[in-house]
Amino acid sequence: MSIWMAPMGLHVTLGETRDAEAMAKIHAAGFFRGWPRTDFEAYLADPTTTPAYVAVDSRRTVHGFMMLRLSGEEAELLTIAVDPARRGKGIGRALLAAGLADLMMTPVRTLFLEVDETNKSAIALYKNFGFSQIGTRKGYYPRPDGQAATALVMRADLG
Ligand SMILES: CC(C)(COP(=O)(O)OP(=O)(O)OC[C@H]1O[C@@H](n2cnc3c(N)ncnc32)[C@H](O)[C@@H]1OP(=O)(O)O)[C@@H](O)C(=O)NCCC(=O)NCCS
Repeated sequence: MSIWMAPMGLHVTLGETRDAEAMAKIHAAGFFRGWPRTDFEAYLADPTTTPAYVAVDSRRTVHGFMMLRLSGEEAELLTIAVDPARRGKGIGRALLAAGLADLMMTPVRTLFLEVDETNKSAIALYKNFGFSQIGTRKGYYPRPDGQAATALVMRADLG
């Protein structure tokens, strides 16, 4: 992993356990069911299986992150989230670009993800990176109104 330039003077680098708290906060701001800091610590302690990418400034304040799970020739995009105050400025794109570039140097050839079918911005981001829909999972995402949302399952072939 190199250090990747990102918009707004940020750069993308590998996540470390010290980033767990910031990641949990950004995740909680982006999803109805946030994951606890301890979950992030466990993922970050195993970067071979679950590498994380963080978009940070020069003081290592985290403004966004993405986490993958690698499994042989397949990988899953576990989650991606950007600080609400920093969205729409290219940080999500920079995180995905960094992760995909790294994956090209691994045996992984297919990347999967699930996304809420109503999450238009995330779906547009994924399509820009070559993901296409391969299925749906009904009732996948809990919602505040109690009506679980359908997930799109998407796949990108890395060639
Ligand atoms: C999805 C998310 C990570 C995108 O991060 P971001 O930094 O805001 O995205 P970027 O600024 O890099 O935008 C990249 C692309 O995403 C799409 N996009 C981003 N915001 C959008 C919006 N408000 N409406 C439509 N498309 C949008 C566009 O395709 C954009 O490319 P473009 O600028 O060339 O048109 C961010 O919105 C987020 O944290 N959302 C909450 C958590 C979440 O939903 N995660 C994904 C769950 S699977």
